[in-house]
Amino acid sequence: MYIINQLIKIPLHIQLFEQVKKDIIENYNVGDKLASIRKVASLYNLSRTTVESAYSQLVVEGYIESYPKKGYIVEDINTSSFQTTINLDNQKEEKETWLYDFNPVGLSKNTFPIKIWKRLFNKYIDEDTDFGLYPNGQGEEGLRIEIAKYLSKLRGVNCHAHQIIIGCGFTNSMEILAKLLSNKYNTLSIENPGYLIALNVFKSNNYNIKKIKIDKNGISIRDLEKQNSSLVYLTPSHQYPTGVTIPISNRYKLLAWAEKNNGLIIEDDYDSELNYENRPIPSLQGLDKGGRVVYIGTFAKSLSPSLRISYMVLPEQILEVYNKCDAKIFSTVPLMMQITLEKFLSEGHWEKHLRKIRTTNRKKHNLMKYFLIEKLGDSMKIESQGAGLSILINPYINIDIKKLKYLAKKERIKIYFVKKVSGGDWDALRMGFGLFNDEEIELAVEMFSRIWHKSIKA
Ligand SMILES: Cc1ncc(COP(=O)(O)O)c(C=O)c1O
Repeated sequence: MYIINQLIKIPLHIQLFEQVKKDIIENYNVGDKLASIRKVASLYNLSRTTVESAYSQLVVEGYIESYPKKGYIVEDINTSSFQTTINLDNQKEEKETWLYDFNPVGLSKNTFPIKIWKRLFNKYIDEDTDFGLYPNGQGEEGLRIEIAKYLSKLRGVNCHAHQIIIGCGFTNSMEILAKLLSNKYNTLSIENPGYLIALNVFKSNNYNIKKIKIDKNGISIRDLEKQNSSLVYLTPSHQYPTGVTIPISNRYKLLAWAEKNNGLIIEDDYDSELNYENRPIPSLQGLDKGGRVVYIGTFAKSLSPSLRISYMVLPEQILEVYNKCDAKIFSTVPLMMQITLEKFLSEGHWEKHLRKIRTTNRKKHNLMKYFLIEKLGDSMKIESQGAGLSILINPYINIDIKKLKYLAKKERIKIYFVKKVSGGDWDALRMGFGLFNDEEIELAVEMFSRIWHKSIKA
């Protein structure tokens, strides 16, 4: 028995179609015959046209077939292969909640300039934004112009807007780059320890990977020279994860290496805005006269990791490859995000925000350092500090790391280790401070120090 309601907005033929379909799936067998159009029309007080429309939709979707002289017969619709017992109500991912989260890559929610962002978004969505067209595949020109201005003023990068490609985060920028370079290079040299994501992107694009060890001056140039490679990935201003900086003399040596080997350096300048003790170190790209550096940056560290906006500055020789690319690579950052960011930069908010975020995080960094020294004292050594969103430490004493991890989980303290994201042998704890407010830092380190002391091996 079907229920056809004349008073609701759903057309009668759709109501009938849905109910007959359900009936077929649940109660009919292949070859069964449906009631005739005339019979259904008279039973439910419907017009023949209404029933015909419902049946014809069932035919189109393959539930029934119409046979001359036989009528409408149920088809084999193979429902069993689609039957599912998944309860969609229980599909939500369970989120772990932490008392203290030493997240080394997060910023606290209140640091995002939400009021300005909303104002700019609302203002410019109303202006002449055209949602009927595809946006610029390379990224909106206005945004590229603003990024070029920022990079040349504050990062010493030599570039024009036409060299910039807007990406959806570092991984996306590296994916694009790996594809662009694949005709010319097949091997990537990379820092060890280094950034595992960079390695994985090139590996999955079939590059051979050669690791180069890090010393107090960054990568060993002697080792690089021995490798039969002409492409290298570096984090020169704040090596990931050790935090070392490549000194100026080695920067020139690297450029000379690239020149001599017809090579290319990928400079990942991921967090140089967050330098608390010195002025930000100018980019390697700014020293390059021969078009040997691809410069990559992100808005993840100083503005928001959830915006997913990065940028890449291509030297002219690689730009040519990009421009000739048959399968044009299309920026995946939504238009309004790009426009809002452009206005955020052009109206002067970005520079103000940078000053603010640096001051806020400098304070958090100093508090974290102070309390780590106060509460862990000589039992730890600081491996890296003074920049970014975390301080790296290692035990000076014998710590049972397994026990430390176990106790941290038990006490709902989230801790992070370098090795998991660097792929090297070297390890350290990443004591992130970005998510905490100032008052929380002492309490967080106090809780951490308790489990630390409990994990000291006898
Ligand atoms: C070495 C390095 N490069 C780049 C990034 C930026 O990545 P994304 O733009 O995907 O947030 C990070 C983020 O943690 C990083 O550690």
